[in-house]
Amino acid sequence: MVWAVPCECTTGDRTERALQRARVPERYRHCDFENYETDNEIENVTREQLAAYNRSLNQAKMFVQRFAQEYSPVPGMQSEHGILLMGPCGVGKTHLAVSALKTIVLRGHTGLFYDYRELLKAIQDSYNPENQATEMSVLEPVLKTEILVLDDVGSSKPSPWALETVGHVLNTRYNEKRVTLLTTNFLDTDAVSANPSLQPQRVAGMRSPTVEDSLTERVGKRIRSRLYEMCRTLEIHAPDYRKEIRHAGRVRS
Ligand SMILES: Nc1ncnc2c1ncn2[C@@H]1O[C@H](COP(=O)(O)OP(=O)(O)O)[C@@H](O)[C@H]1O
Ligand SMILES: [Mg+2]
Repeated sequence: MVWAVPCECTTGDRTERALQRARVPERYRHCDFENYETDNEIENVTREQLAAYNRSLNQAKMFVQRFAQEYSPVPGMQSEHGILLMGPCGVGKTHLAVSALKTIVLRGHTGLFYDYRELLKAIQDSYNPENQATEMSVLEPVLKTEILVLDDVGSSKPSPWALETVGHVLNTRYNEKRVTLLTTNFLDTDAVSANPSLQPQRVAGMRSPTVEDSLTERVGKRIRSRLYEMCRTLEIHAPDYRKEIRHAGRVRS
């Protein structure tokens, strides 16, 4: 008896095709939970601070991984309808969001990755009559896909049109009980003042958010409050992986 066994190279192709279909940018295609490190060594921080950073990374990883593994499209089976990953640049927010997206699309579900600015630009470009894409052809997959990653929320100027558009996407997905994972470099000023213990965990020299650069300022009160309702918020406190961890004595490719 001869059994046909799928060749390993077809598995790789399948993953690649699934990531392409989900519009995951090439620079994030390697991201998965296995290569998200939570035992980093960082120079010039105390042992306590290092432990706090690694704990923060580990908590975020465990939560997002469990969420991805337990994802179910059946209404009522999904306890959270989204995750909002907050934190400074380079702590691996996009890495974790892509890892979750990958886990879910490889199980056969539909998923899409959109950078916040690029989504708004694609919609805006669709208004140009010379462009073949219509607003609906851009928006429909974003509204309907089972899991949407919206990366770098708040990174573009909060014009009334942009906020209206993003509000529509989030409300529709929330009403239809679809899952949305969001990342942002902006923080909540109130979360910081309400929890002063977060303060010492912040990266040395890192500015606490002012009202001007808080998430609410970037997306407006209505969207911030919609996000509270539809997402579990996870703040990640750690230094920039690219800058401070790569050069901290470990050699990485
Ligand atoms: N804890 C980590 N372990 C492994 N790689 C990481 C980790 N954190 C960040 N990276 C890598 O560093 C780069 C920047 O991470 P990214 O997810 O873009 O950060 P953020 O979205 O928070 O700005 C990516 O290539 C990512 O794969
Ligand atoms: Mg990012």
